[in-house]
Amino acid sequence: MANPDPVLVHDWHPLAKAEDVAGGRQVAARLLGEDLVLWSTGGRFHAWRDLCVHRGAKLSLGKVKDGCLQCPYHGWTYDESGMCVLIPAHPGQKPPPRARITAFQCREAYGWIWACLSETPNELPVFPEWEADDASKFAMGPYEMDASGPRIIENFLDLAHLPVVHEGILGIESRAEIARYSVEKRADGVYATDIVVWQPDPDGSGMPAAAHYTYRVIRPLAAYLSKQAGTSVFTMMILATPIDEARSKAWIVFSMKGAKATSQQLIDWTERVFLQDKPVVQSQRPELLPLDLQAELHLNCDRTSIAYRQWLNELGVGFGTS
Ligand code: FES
Ligand SMILES: [Fe+2]
Repeated sequence: MANPDPVLVHDWHPLAKAEDVAGGRQVAARLLGEDLVLWSTGGRFHAWRDLCVHRGAKLSLGKVKDGCLQCPYHGWTYDESGMCVLIPAHPGQKPPPRARITAFQCREAYGWIWACLSETPNELPVFPEWEADDASKFAMGPYEMDASGPRIIENFLDLAHLPVVHEGILGIESRAEIARYSVEKRADGVYATDIVVWQPDPDGSGMPAAAHYTYRVIRPLAAYLSKQAGTSVFTMMILATPIDEARSKAWIVFSMKGAKATSQQLIDWTERVFLQDKPVVQSQRPELLPLDLQAELHLNCDRTSIAYRQWLNELGVGFGTS
């Protein structure tokens, strides 16, 4: 397995729903090939290496007790700083200073628990619409995928699949042509604008119309889109948490302004679209996204993907790519 790249190590990645860890519970998670335990006490969340320093048992099988995390094997008990404070077999003995668990950066946002494996994290990916009062907002996931993070993000940026995989929802088979649009690769990501996709009912009014899309790749494994149709504006951010090189957890936040659909319809629609993509993306070979542009064929419609691969290459992202 490739070593995790500095760029992904410094990024934040969502790992679990906050509700699954809140209230003094612990869960196992995995990030960039590293097993973690997420746990909480008193409303504070922690992300640690999931490995007891005594005999290597998984702390995620233990329990949260009196504000500490207790190992399931011999009961060594670690306080919130990761320091062992009690060894039940020797209750009167002060635990040695090396009896300490590696703690990573951890925080909550969008109802998810995020971790970063570096002590100097990059900025958290921002979904600006989350703060807007006039839009409906939803957080969905995780969706486990047997696919590399870059394959998932590239699928999100892919235009030509819309009238095929999502025919009747996000595209019309008889109007599958992708007109020329603008793509720009900047130091902070990829920008694709002036994209027009014909859709059967883009704003929920029941009428076919042109939807106008803007895409932005924010981080190697985070991308954003905004879609305007009639008076409605739909925005979405997708994140692909790299569990291993070819296994990921996808997370989605989206907002809708001027929607004619109900909240439940929007959720069902988003999930349906995502589940249409899933088997196709999981089938892609090679599993790791090839950054050599000679490795696969690229046409005009694929220029966002080309820019994405070039940007990953410039950043030196080797985890999940080939
Ligand atoms: S392995 Fe954790 S207490 Fe022994
Ligand atoms: Fe799709």
